Amino acid sequence: MARKVSKIGVLTSGGDAPGMNAAIRAVVRTGNYNGLEVYGIMRGYQGLIEDDIIRMESRSVANIIQRGGTILKTARCKEFYEYEGRKTGYENLKRRDIDGLVVIGGDGSFRGAVKFSKEFDIPCIGIAGTIDKDIYGTDFTIGFDTAVNTAVEAIDKIRDTMDAHDRIFIIEVMGRDAGYIALHSGIATGAENIMIPELKSNMEDIIQSLQEKERRKKLVNLIVVAEGDEFGGANEVQKVLSEKLPKAEIRVCILGHIQRGGSPTCIDRLIASRMGYHAVESLMVGRHNVFVGILNNKMNYLPLENAVKNKSKISEEWMKIVKILAS
Ligand code: F6P
Repeated sequence: MARKVSKIGVLTSGGDAPGMNAAIRAVVRTGNYNGLEVYGIMRGYQGLIEDDIIRMESRSVANIIQRGGTILKTARCKEFYEYEGRKTGYENLKRRDIDGLVVIGGDGSFRGAVKFSKEFDIPCIGIAGTIDKDIYGTDFTIGFDTAVNTAVEAIDKIRDTMDAHDRIFIIEVMGRDAGYIALHSGIATGAENIMIPELKSNMEDIIQSLQEKERRKKLVNLIVVAEGDEFGGANEVQKVLSEKLPKAEIRVCILGHIQRGGSPTCIDRLIASRMGYHAVESLMVGRHNVFVGILNNKMNYLPLENAVKNKSKISEEWMKIVKILAS
């Protein structure tokens, strides 16, 4: 039986991702179009606990679709891990009669939403927003495309100087538990090696091929490493390689938070708009505790719980492709 919602809250939580503003805009405007009151909750769960909640109208989201970051700001809120924090958050919603919540964020934010919706009578809809693309059950997450394109642009530039000097470059991209940014940006820039947390890297193989290149006096090589790789990131990889190849010129570049900023790509604006629209529709038709993803170009509504319990797999075939294409 569909439960009628009339006032909904929206928040962004965890690491920001380009396109979050487009999603906020879609939630606010779809809500307003359908006669709902929409409330923006500042700084994610932190603002929920601190009752930092503002009324949003269509005008409040004008001219933001192209902006990175999030106008609602975001936080990683420790207090929301505790029952008392979540209870305070619920009471703040109740006092305003907010009867549905849209959570835009990654797996940590979804974990919070799962607990919150189990303990309290409030339907929550997740929107997959994270540059890491580490959410199960969706082909896209908001921000990933922009982050990857930022990484590709930076790596292309590094390749120019790497090539000019015949150097080895180890470039670290973001992804604590997920290697998608490394995989996609590495393939798109023709990296010889890509190291990601999901798959074991064969350091012996990498060293051997570099020694072979050194013998042929062609020691130029691009390695893209995800920050969460088992070797511990680019600096650690450099230590190992420098020991085995003392004569090689090895440089490290950590791309860092540059990957989280900037104007969202068209793809990110588009998926954010679609997800925002469908999140509000979901609340209106009585779906609860699901997240909105896109699978095979169709909207996909998976229980929030599944998104946090399961992990997407990266097939070994990707590495075969990397090896063949870089040979
Ligand atoms: O939002 C995801 C992410 O960018 C990860 O790739 C990275 O490990 C982490 O956030 C960094 O978080 P913070 O900005 O809090 O240091």
